[in-house]
Amino acid sequence: MSSAVSDLLEVDDLDPARLATILDHALAWKADPGAVPKPLAGLGAALLFEKPSTRTRASTEMAIVGLGGHPIYIRPEEVGLDTREPAEDVARILAGYCALIAGRVFDHSVLERMASVVEVPVINLLSDRAHPCQALADLLTLRECFGDLEGRRVVYVGDGNNVAASLAFASALSGIDLVVSSPPGYELDDEVVARARNLGGTIDQIVDPYEAVPGTDAVYTDVWTSMGAEQEAGARQVAFAPYQVNAALMAAAGSQAKFLHCLPAHRGEEVTAEVIDGPASVVWQQGANRMDSARALIAFLLGSIG
Ligand code: CP
Ligand code: NVA
Repeated sequence: MSSAVSDLLEVDDLDPARLATILDHALAWKADPGAVPKPLAGLGAALLFEKPSTRTRASTEMAIVGLGGHPIYIRPEEVGLDTREPAEDVARILAGYCALIAGRVFDHSVLERMASVVEVPVINLLSDRAHPCQALADLLTLRECFGDLEGRRVVYVGDGNNVAASLAFASALSGIDLVVSSPPGYELDDEVVARARNLGGTIDQIVDPYEAVPGTDAVYTDVWTSMGAEQEAGARQVAFAPYQVNAALMAAAGSQAKFLHCLPAHRGEEVTAEVIDGPASVVWQQGANRMDSARALIAFLLGSIG
């Protein structure tokens, strides 16, 4: 069986049916871990991280172990992507030992270049443009909360960043109506919005978060300053202050609204402790789902499910 999808650099490498298959298996294997196949038995999986990680590293390593494989964590100072040797050469060598390569990089094009020279799957573990593995866990969490996703409404409040872009594609492919509420100058890229709409997605952009959230099924936020943009932190603190997800914004959303955050969170900035540690929050379930969704994704890319 072949997945006919070789890499996952962004969620729209998948189509609605393939995305649903991955989520179905993630849910099924979460309920019955004994049913997880072992396509990686005796095989390695290379995990390259140019940036720090709590969830992504640990969940991907455990997903690989669950599929019978051996994760190899590689730090940037060891390989020196494009300094010690070209990223393509690193990929070619790792593909000689490993059944997949996954990477967290500053520059998305590094993953594209690696994927272009190897046959093994290449998975994006977060780049400047996309965080597709996060979006799979987000959808899994929303499925657990709401069942069918078609017609559900999610309001993303905050930076139109990598997490927002992948959420846009994930929403488009699963029938979620997405509203993005960002300060002027920090919106989703026009190209991302156009691409998601091209997939049939409904994406609205509403500047005022208090206008965006009423009646929504979920409110989602992420940090105001992503890794790699630290020099902009001061300006961002000012621009994003009206976009804090706090008790007032959740009250405007309504008591039905769940709260999601990819984490790490900064209490007192993009979200208050009252919200993230309160009854509407599903962030720990969402974080745990990173492993379940990664396991199903990798099994899919290796052709174990199709
Ligand atoms: N959400 C997420 O990717 O977390 P880490 O940066 O800790 O991996
Ligand atoms: N947007 C954040 C997500 C971290 C998981 C970043 O890129 O730093």
